[in-house]
Amino acid sequence: MVWDALEPLFPEGGGLEVLDIGGGTGGFAVRVAERGHRVTVVDPSPDALAALDRRAREREVTVTGRQGELSTLLETIGPASTDVVLCHGVLEVVEDAGSAMSVLAQVLRPSGSLSLLVAQRHAAVVARAMAGHFEQARALLDSTDHGRGGRRFTHDELLGLVAGAGLRPGVVHAVRVFADLVPGSLLDLEPGGAAALVELERAVAERPEYRPLAAQLHVVATR
Ligand SMILES: C[S@@+](CC[C@H](N)C(=O)[O-])C[C@H]1O[C@@H](n2cnc3c(N)ncnc32)[C@H](O)[C@@H]1O
Repeated sequence: MVWDALEPLFPEGGGLEVLDIGGGTGGFAVRVAERGHRVTVVDPSPDALAALDRRAREREVTVTGRQGELSTLLETIGPASTDVVLCHGVLEVVEDAGSAMSVLAQVLRPSGSLSLLVAQRHAAVVARAMAGHFEQARALLDSTDHGRGGRRFTHDELLGLVAGAGLRPGVVHAVRVFADLVPGSLLDLEPGGAAALVELERAVAERPEYRPLAAQLHVVATR
């Protein structure tokens, strides 16, 4: 689903300078590199970078892995150096999401794009409640703290962070509205179930009424 929104940013034939901050083992980075773009993954984890290297070699593409982290990104790759930045699953774990967003905006070239994927708070509240952990669910309701699994964001908080960094948001997509709620055994039993679930997820991704149920929110913002 996230790739659906990203694909138009990466025309076949390459030419773009792309940074995947906290890109981990390179699931997205390798796909972008396969389209011919120059991709750098900056991640603090040596293990993740080693797995990225293996994955890139298996797929016969070049992805540059650099050990580093978001707060020092300007020193690692320099300001106004990148056409597209991917920041997926990282704002949850940084100390100060507002400062992190300012750094991300500064590494973008004018008209560059930032793809942001963050955990959405209310899905975690629902998940805790459905598991019978009602006190945990109640505590999560208004929590902006780093809990177990990192910080989670609401739609309005996400848009506030984007605006605070001086970026313009595109459409916010709901990601994994149902996927985490459906028992895996159901998908195994129902022929074509997995494909039908993907279609259902696509159908609700842009419907605002489903956003509070989404495990993650995705937005592409431009400078
Ligand atoms: C949840 S994983 C997401 C990986 C990848 N972006 C994805 O979407 O599959 C979080 C990644 O952020 C990295 N990370 C943790 N703290 C970071 C920081 N301060 N700056 C940059 N990356 C960080 C971790 O090493 C890990 O690879």
